[in-house]
Amino acid sequence: MDRLVIQGGRRLHGEVVVGGAKNSVLPIMAAALLTDEELVIRRVPKLRDVLSQVRILQALGARVLHDERSGVLRIRSDDEGCVTAPYELVRTMRASICVLGPLLAKRKRARVSLPGGCVIGVRPIDLHLKGMEALGARLDVQGGYVEASAERLRGTTLFLGSSAGSTVLGTANVLMAAVLADGVTTIENAAQEPEVVDLCHLLVKMGARIEGIGSHCLLVDGVDRLRGVEHEVIPDRIEAGTFVLAGAVAGGDVTVRRCQPRHLLALIERLRAAGCEVKVGEDSLQVKAPPRVRPVDVTTLPHPGFPTDLQAQMMALLTKADGISFVHERIYPDRFIHVAELHRMGARIRKEGATAVIEGVPRLSGAPVMASDLRGSAALVLAGLAAEGETEVDRVYHIDRGYERIDERLRLLGARIERRSGGAHALAMSAAAAP
Ligand code: EPZ
Repeated sequence: MDRLVIQGGRRLHGEVVVGGAKNSVLPIMAAALLTDEELVIRRVPKLRDVLSQVRILQALGARVLHDERSGVLRIRSDDEGCVTAPYELVRTMRASICVLGPLLAKRKRARVSLPGGCVIGVRPIDLHLKGMEALGARLDVQGGYVEASAERLRGTTLFLGSSAGSTVLGTANVLMAAVLADGVTTIENAAQEPEVVDLCHLLVKMGARIEGIGSHCLLVDGVDRLRGVEHEVIPDRIEAGTFVLAGAVAGGDVTVRRCQPRHLLALIERLRAAGCEVKVGEDSLQVKAPPRVRPVDVTTLPHPGFPTDLQAQMMALLTKADGISFVHERIYPDRFIHVAELHRMGARIRKEGATAVIEGVPRLSGAPVMASDLRGSAALVLAGLAAEGETEVDRVYHIDRGYERIDERLRLLGARIERRSGGAHALAMSAAAAP
């Protein structure tokens, strides 16, 4: 089990290039199940979650060639494969639920394990199921699996929303079922996240008929078949935002290249309100931060609001603000697992329901901390960059799910960060696990 050891207090300077979006590539890989022809995906990041999705597609009979050096993934699927996405694979990554729609649309049957909750919250999939049912699928939940079948899916009008707003993967799932359905499907309250837009663009290239792309209402006119195409995924806005926030936290001057600034307008606005200088280029963002930022309030919302996936990293910045900030989490009310670890580094944060009240402190101090989810781990690394002394972030496999070689890339910006294998924590854990 690897850990990251950070000597904090160094300003970051330089440039970093962003990779392809994890949350785009995962549903796009599932879309390969919609055609018998080859789908070629470019700018695929080298991440654990991508590997997990490859395994799921292989279990479903797809042939997958992954050239990690060039970031190209070739997937060919035909209807001969099985229709079961097993628990052992689905539990490692919730995005695998989005094979349900394509399987149902193309193979007419699907048996997909229920993903279960995770540390950021309960995360139900009722809206995914509601969408499939509305399209005419018969559903049964048995032994922890969703069993779905439909000789032919039929277009319909449906409202896809929960108390938290729209659903990203739910929209992707229903959309992928609707593109091969009979007639027109209207998805009201569709998610507007750039990753959903990217999926729509891919599906249109494959021959799907979709109107309203990027809006809250998607109109899908079903077609009989889709073809194989080549597609480059969009830049990862959360990775870009994390590096921008790393620059802000460490009080440096960092430029993030090959990103799409218009996907990050809410972050840019909040950073400027906090006193950071943010320069927006066509495909770059440069951030310079004062030694202590001003406190700001942040509310996470569906896109184009402030992304929940940057909430923890923004909180790391606000722990050192010159005053009191409020962070309201509207998407996942329990997504505050990083708070206790930030406390260990000297942060002053009080949790009141789905709100965190952060009283900025002049300095954080390095400490051993434990990563327990992807974005929370990124926040701990950022806090470690800003802290005085040494921070050791254990269980970095969480971070490797969503950030490619984060340690190497931060080192290029001047951070003192090193990856170590095994060590005290791992030894203690293996001793505890021994009979
Ligand atoms: C996607 O998850 C992302 N994952 C998440 O990123 C991200 O945090 C989330 O969208 C919100 O932006 C991927 O794209 C792989 P949702 P998703 O369905 O689609 C409720 C990361 O760190 N809801 O949009 O699963 C749900 O509980 C990950 O990269 C229902 O009630 O999220 C939440 O409150 C973590 N019923 C809200 O909707 C449903 O059937 C939004 O969730 C589905 C969702």
